[in-house]
Amino acid sequence: MPDDIPLQSQTPDALMLFGFWYRALPSNQLRRGEPTKAMLLEQPLVIGRDEQAKAFALRDACPHRGMPLSCGRFDGQQIECSYHGWRFDAHTGQCQLIPSLVPEQNLKVDRIYAGSYPCEERDDFVWVFIPDPGPVGAGFSKPTPAPTPAPEISKFSDRYKLAYLTADLPCSVDHGMIGLLDPAHGPFVHQAWWWRTQQSIHEKKKNFEPIPYGFRMSAHTPSSNSAPYKLLRLYADADSISTTIDFVLPNLRSEIIRAGKYWFSSLTTVTPITRNQCRIDVVAAWNLFRWIPFVPELLKFVFRKFVEQDRRTMELQSEGLKHNPHLMLIDDADRPAKWYFQLKAAHQESKRTGQPMKHPMPGPVTLKWRS
Ligand code: FES
Ligand SMILES: [Fe+2]
Repeated sequence: MPDDIPLQSQTPDALMLFGFWYRALPSNQLRRGEPTKAMLLEQPLVIGRDEQAKAFALRDACPHRGMPLSCGRFDGQQIECSYHGWRFDAHTGQCQLIPSLVPEQNLKVDRIYAGSYPCEERDDFVWVFIPDPGPVGAGFSKPTPAPTPAPEISKFSDRYKLAYLTADLPCSVDHGMIGLLDPAHGPFVHQAWWWRTQQSIHEKKKNFEPIPYGFRMSAHTPSSNSAPYKLLRLYADADSISTTIDFVLPNLRSEIIRAGKYWFSSLTTVTPITRNQCRIDVVAAWNLFRWIPFVPELLKFVFRKFVEQDRRTMELQSEGLKHNPHLMLIDDADRPAKWYFQLKAAHQESKRTGQPMKHPMPGPVTLKWRS
């Protein structure tokens, strides 16, 4: 996708990237002994918590005849399929018992595996690694460990608050990502007297630089036209506030705001559920206003409002997208979205050729837009 074409016909391909960690569900939705169904990248999963409270993720299909394992019984260690009673270790997926076997039948039970996925909890969310290629081969293949640990929110002190918000979006992961990366919808979608209005639109100039698998909007003093930032500067008694926003494949947007000893950090993900459905999860950590009553509630309220505005917008947009309209991405406001597609393409290309990924950004870039 060359950059010099100002108007780009752009229909996102909704390509889902395998070989990455994805957020599956909030930790508090997972109770011991009660496995629950989840869907990531069109793969049905059963996610549970063992006796030691450790989370696990299996493919929600018995390797015998495909019965969803979520229909089975879980004793805290093993899942028993509800069809013929085969039992599987919840973490490794290894088969432990086939009740129908008679003693002289020497089928090697322990060579059979239900598909299992690396599963970790971070910042109050359960993350699942969806391997490449495709699903873990249910049947005879052992689970493979994830090459990297699950992503984590950056934190800058030992004590902090943590909160999350989640919303289902009725669109492909690409439309969800574009919405997240798009700086120009703010004054129209997120209007509020205490934030910004259409009258406050002005020209912005931001510096971006390439980072591995993504790009960074470099540290700067954020828009001074919003009340929360003015308040923060006053509260932190800091001369300057710095913000860094990183986007990293497949779907991670992290934002770090620091003012003196105070900080606010968030990690937002847009997770493909199916080809036409995704979910946005915002998890934030902060040490600001930690001990002032109501402030965490206020922050949550503000964030909930933002996410709800985005969700509502995408719900309306999905009406428009139903009949495959011709779409475009323009410079400079949609350039981050273009980079997102270019990064995806570059990643796929490097997987295809086995060569290192070629970053689409030649170096630092300054973008200008009005918002
Ligand atoms: S389908 Fe699961 S044991 Fe037969
Ligand atoms: Fe938004």
